[in-house]
Amino acid sequence: MRALGDIHLHDPQTLYRHWEDSQWSPWGIDLSLDREQWAAMSDRTLVSFVLGSLMVAEERITTKFAGLVSADGTEEEVTFLATQQVDEARHMQFYARFQDEVVAEPALIAAHVERARAQVSPAFQTIFDDKLVAAHNRLLANPADLGAKVSFVTMYHLILEATLGLTTFEFSTRFMEREGLLPGFVAGYTKIHHDEHRHIGYGIWFLRKAVAEAESLGDAVRATLRDLLPAVAESLTPPEGADSSALGASADEIRAFALDGLKRRLDIVGVPLDTL
Ligand SMILES: [Fe+2]
Ligand SMILES: [Fe+2]
Repeated sequence: MRALGDIHLHDPQTLYRHWEDSQWSPWGIDLSLDREQWAAMSDRTLVSFVLGSLMVAEERITTKFAGLVSADGTEEEVTFLATQQVDEARHMQFYARFQDEVVAEPALIAAHVERARAQVSPAFQTIFDDKLVAAHNRLLANPADLGAKVSFVTMYHLILEATLGLTTFEFSTRFMEREGLLPGFVAGYTKIHHDEHRHIGYGIWFLRKAVAEAESLGDAVRATLRDLLPAVAESLTPPEGADSSALGASADEIRAFALDGLKRRLDIVGVPLDTL
């Protein structure tokens, strides 16, 4: 039995029950102070980059997910994944409400995403527009293909939600809380973060089980990681022109945090990083 450290793996039925007890509304969060602060902010480069990246990522994450819900799985798994689909839509709605009420004028989500796209890096586009879309299309076309499901969950849950998502949350909320910035945003993002832990829990549970059942599925995890990791490392670099020292963390520190988390999760999955 592998040591799981501080990570607890719940099965999909338990995660579903947790979801029932974890409801929140994007409209239940007070953004009035955020609006005042935004109007008075002199340098918005770093904050705009974070908000824009989250808006673009969450739109992709929401609209490129249905293939996993309809892939072969137990009733309990499908039930849990249906709740994750709702969560992702809720997250996208929160970021869009923030754009509507703090950053810009009210608009359709597509218009906010389009504007935010001007700020994201080429690596970000490679991950979300090319790799994620391709993995999702493959699963949609082959709902019974376990290899396609493993690749998709590796990319979505292990890399986008855990490695990229948790790292972005850690450093951006650390920075905003230290500066006393955008308290409504931080409150909503923290709710999102709790939801993400449930999603990541499912991903690790599923991958560990799949890899334990078939050695070849471990190879599918490895191939997906090898393909994606260069763009992920690149996307964790703060944008040009932003004062990244304001973040209070160096690019090396950010990458080390991401890598450490990935390493711990891969050990649990049963595909240690040094076997890549
Ligand atoms: Fe999300
Ligand atoms: Fe998620």
